[in-house]
Amino acid sequence: MGSEFCKRILVTGGAGFIGTHTVLQLLKDGFHVTVVDNLDNSVEEAVDRVRILAGEDLSRNLVFSIGDLRNKSDLEKLFSETRFEAVIHFAGLKAVGESVAKPMRYFDNNLVGTLNLYEIMGKYGCKKMVFSSSATVYGQPEKIPCVEDFDLKAMNPYGRTKLFLEEIARDIQKADPEWKIILLRYFNPVGAHESGQIGEDPKGIPNNLMPYIERVAVGRLPELNVYGHDYPTKDGSAVRDYIHVMDLADGHLAALRKLFTADEIGCVAYNLGTGRGTSVLEMVAAFEKAAGKKIPVKLCDRRHGDATAVYASTEKAQKELNWKAKYGIEEMCRDQWNWASKNPYGYQSKP
Ligand code: NAD
Ligand code: UFG
Repeated sequence: MGSEFCKRILVTGGAGFIGTHTVLQLLKDGFHVTVVDNLDNSVEEAVDRVRILAGEDLSRNLVFSIGDLRNKSDLEKLFSETRFEAVIHFAGLKAVGESVAKPMRYFDNNLVGTLNLYEIMGKYGCKKMVFSSSATVYGQPEKIPCVEDFDLKAMNPYGRTKLFLEEIARDIQKADPEWKIILLRYFNPVGAHESGQIGEDPKGIPNNLMPYIERVAVGRLPELNVYGHDYPTKDGSAVRDYIHVMDLADGHLAALRKLFTADEIGCVAYNLGTGRGTSVLEMVAAFEKAAGKKIPVKLCDRRHGDATAVYASTEKAQKELNWKAKYGIEEMCRDQWNWASKNPYGYQSKP
């Protein structure tokens, strides 16, 4: 689709985990891409690897700019020099625990950065936006699967930034119907590109399950703490909807397609999940199989604020975006292990 028109897309946070995988798919689909990232939680090496995976020709269509969304001047510079047809907005902080300890850091970065972005987009007449929301806006859902029209709630400052930013998007669009905004609520993104050249590389000790399992598998951490073994689930551990990051990346292309082809979009939310729930212990078993090694586990108390079971209703995305996840947990673990075994220290060589 992109190649006919050479549309240029601004991708904020494009050096990060989901961003790199999406940028690669955008380039392969013929889009021109500008990434803006302050490298707060990423490294430029990740963008360099995207260039290599895209190949010499397509990588000419990628521009990387170091910039911070909190600085309006960084955005002014980008928009005054280049015409963007749409923005995919990944840039943000995402560590739940850190957001509880440092709420101001989260409100400043996620809220102020996004408000600046809307202001400058509006000023330059770029009114098409795909926003990274999260299943966190369902809080601890009373019913599963989570359907897009459920009541929303936040459980922590990070979740509040996503909830506020969804509300802000709805208000901006209501006030100016020229805006078209798609809110994508990701469930639990895992896995890596099949090449094993790009993947998730969290700084410090990982908060999330799969990067933690990966660190145990490569010998950087001794064992996995399984938080909760007395949940009313099939094996007592909590259930989530894990989604392959390549499926997620393709979900963004589907959202862009909708922005460019449908007239009446308004501001609309879609779940990006598989619709299937997998327990923590099932995920450990699947990873052990993929890696061919044992992951030592310690059964621990529940983690404060965790929900028992969360998974997506996928009907709306399937019907309106014509998008459906292709991969299951076997492929997610295979590709995550491929990335981990090739890059046991992430984008760094061994420190
Ligand atoms: P990530 O940390 O790997 O990527 C985010 C990128 O944004 C990083 O490269 C970081 O340096 C950059 N960034 C942060 N603040 C910035 C700022 N002010 N200016 C410029 N760049 C900035 O995270 P990710 O997993 O790729 O997540 C992308 C988005 O998806 C985030 O908004 C996150 O909240 C959301 N999300 C992620 C998950 C998940 O589990 N990974 C789940 C749901 C939603
Ligand atoms: N878990 C462990 N041990 C760990 C890490 C996690 O047992 O070391 C368990 C958790 O208790 C939970 C499950 O694995 O039951 C998944 O935990 P994650 O931290 O990987 O993911 P969450 O579902 O808790 O939350 C993440 C983000 C949220 C986001 C949500 C959906 O942290 O902000 O995914 O996108 F909303």
